[in-house]
Amino acid sequence: MKLKIALLAGDGIGPEVIEQAVKVSDAIAKKFNHEISWHPALTGAAAIDAVGDPYPQETHDICASSDAVLFGAIGHPRFDNDPSAKVRPEQGLLKMRKELGLFANVRPTFTFPSLIDKSPLKRERIEGTDLVFLRELTGGIYFGKKGREDNGNTAYDHCVYSRKEVQRLAKKGFEMAMSRGKKLCCVDKANVLETSRLWRETVQAMEKDYPEVEVSYEFVDAVAMRLVQWPNSYDVLITENLFGDILTDEASVISGSMGLMPSASVGADVSLFEPIHGSYPQATGKNIANPLATVLSAAMMFETGFGLHDEGAAIREVVNKSLDAGIVTEDLADGGKSYGTTQVGDWLAENV
Ligand code: IPM
Ligand code: MN
Repeated sequence: MKLKIALLAGDGIGPEVIEQAVKVSDAIAKKFNHEISWHPALTGAAAIDAVGDPYPQETHDICASSDAVLFGAIGHPRFDNDPSAKVRPEQGLLKMRKELGLFANVRPTFTFPSLIDKSPLKRERIEGTDLVFLRELTGGIYFGKKGREDNGNTAYDHCVYSRKEVQRLAKKGFEMAMSRGKKLCCVDKANVLETSRLWRETVQAMEKDYPEVEVSYEFVDAVAMRLVQWPNSYDVLITENLFGDILTDEASVISGSMGLMPSASVGADVSLFEPIHGSYPQATGKNIANPLATVLSAAMMFETGFGLHDEGAAIREVVNKSLDAGIVTEDLADGGKSYGTTQVGDWLAENV
């Protein structure tokens, strides 16, 4: 298969982890006889510095004309500490999600047998966890009208959802539940928020089309608690943009490290694959960042992006092998022997 992949390394550790995912993908391509052409493009703070725009038109054109986008991370402390900055790296990510129509963010949470004791949560709580969040990605408070009033002394961010936006996300949730454990949890705050009441009403109306799926409705505050108490009671969870952002960071604790969790953003046409972690500025350039979340995002790209299941499985297999063999970055080493980002990448590529 000929695969054209847009490569958006972004900021911070983005370029370092992306480099490892490229090595592993190239090794997979060689093994399975595919031809990958990588198309690097600017995004984030790097793009602001180069052309003054965190998601330039040229980058959009490259993404839109590719078969998939592999993305590193976005964000720079220079902007985090300057709330008055007019152009921010994160705007690039949001613009990219919106313009590419990536309305559903698929964030799986699972445990790795050899890392089960690395999680701060007790083994018996997390063993067998295999859940997936479907986070709505192009609506809600992230994209509503925002601004200041009263000479800058009052600020607002509107949270807006349309029934259509909820339906298309929920449809993916029901379908995913059908292909897995047939359980769907709609996470909302319907006791307080009108948008949440629309979510609940919309999902309730869809239940009859999926009689086999057992649907539950839970408030987001309760889910925040249950997620770390009984994570293995969940299968598919659907939720709005902000709740999904927060809960998926929380869920990454189950696996033992945020450096392990991949994601796929899907929607209209081209799909994007990215680790759920951020740009981790403290680690930038130190060759210590864990590349596995990005490598596993590449596995999702082969599987869900291209329908190449053996290729995706081969990546996951080699990742498990590296964990078993202790070829890990310092976040997983427990003070023991650890390897650099590039060493882990080389080991994975060689062992594919
Ligand atoms: C994520 C990130 C982004 C988000 C930031 C960088 C804008 O935290 O992908 O989860 O909030 O969506
Ligand atoms: Mn986040």
